[in-house]
Amino acid sequence: MLDQFALRAELADHYDLTPSPDLAAEMSGIYARMDRVVAPPDWAVFAPYVAAINKLKAERNAVILAHNYMTPEIYHGIADVVGDSLQLAIEATKVEADVIVQCGVHFMAETSKILNPSKTVLIPDMEAGCSLAESITAEGIAEMRAKYPGAPVVTYVNTTAEAKAASDICCTSSNAAQIVRAQESDTVIMTPDKYLAQNIAQQVPEKRIVWWDGSCIVHERFTAQDLRDFREWHPGTRIIAHPECPPDVVAEADFSGSTSGIIDYVTTERPEKAMLVTECSMASNISDALPDVDFVGPCNMCPYMKKITLEKVLWSLHSMQGAVEVEVAVADKARVAVQRMIDLSRKLSG
Ligand code: 13P
Ligand code: SF4
Repeated sequence: MLDQFALRAELADHYDLTPSPDLAAEMSGIYARMDRVVAPPDWAVFAPYVAAINKLKAERNAVILAHNYMTPEIYHGIADVVGDSLQLAIEATKVEADVIVQCGVHFMAETSKILNPSKTVLIPDMEAGCSLAESITAEGIAEMRAKYPGAPVVTYVNTTAEAKAASDICCTSSNAAQIVRAQESDTVIMTPDKYLAQNIAQQVPEKRIVWWDGSCIVHERFTAQDLRDFREWHPGTRIIAHPECPPDVVAEADFSGSTSGIIDYVTTERPEKAMLVTECSMASNISDALPDVDFVGPCNMCPYMKKITLEKVLWSLHSMQGAVEVEVAVADKARVAVQRMIDLSRKLSG
């Protein structure tokens, strides 16, 4: 566990992190990407961190890969690449810099390390986990194999390296249907997200899909009734749900897709009002680019994603602590499952 006070004292010794309206004004170009969602006094607090991180990033020859659920000051202020899980995994294979700072959760940093093992991969907070990744182990996968002999195991990337290593192929929310459809067997085991599996079962009725009993603590909270209530409260709202939501929630939505699929849909469709049934930083991150869209809806935050802050990113680059390591034998096996997914997804998407 990071000692927040020691960390703060160490950073204060090396960087001027006092809130600065002058620096905030100097960095107005960056602020313009988030000025609808970040108040000026907050930007004056963030600006010294953003300046320090961007300088240190160049000195350390580092790149920042950030998930779509990061807060706007990370997403717009310091990220070199933003995206959904699949996009970040593909980008990780291309990184030439010495250091990758993963602004996301631990399984994402592990995936980057697996795909680009010679790089130093830092996660600003080792405790940025994921309820799905915690729900399944390699033993759990072995249990499923014993129950459904011969069925291939398609494992969501939201898992540990050990779980990936025990699987035949990975999938993400953007390619799960393609990957499952491409399996030769009639029965397919999907782990660990039962709701993703149930949603894919509806899209791929020709397969018998069996699943593990895991779920995402952010998406399982939404109910179909919530969505109906929102439609009544804001008539005409376009509702877009992530496939980690329960199937009756997805059925109530107008569109379902990965986090980047959701961004693309709203960017193309430009509904007057939109409710993103997913983590709430998503709407904040695209608000400035889509001023004509009114985002309505609740704010469900992922407590794991929110462990990543500007202060911890600065600390990780300053101290070079928080390097993610994966045992070579595990990484070699996990790489096969992840690379199969990337290759198949590329082939099937043309
Ligand atoms: P995406 O792959 O759609 O970005 O989802 C990752 C995630 O953790 C969603 O909860
Ligand atoms: Fe895991 Fe859900 Fe958080 Fe995504 S939103 S990282 S699936 S707990």
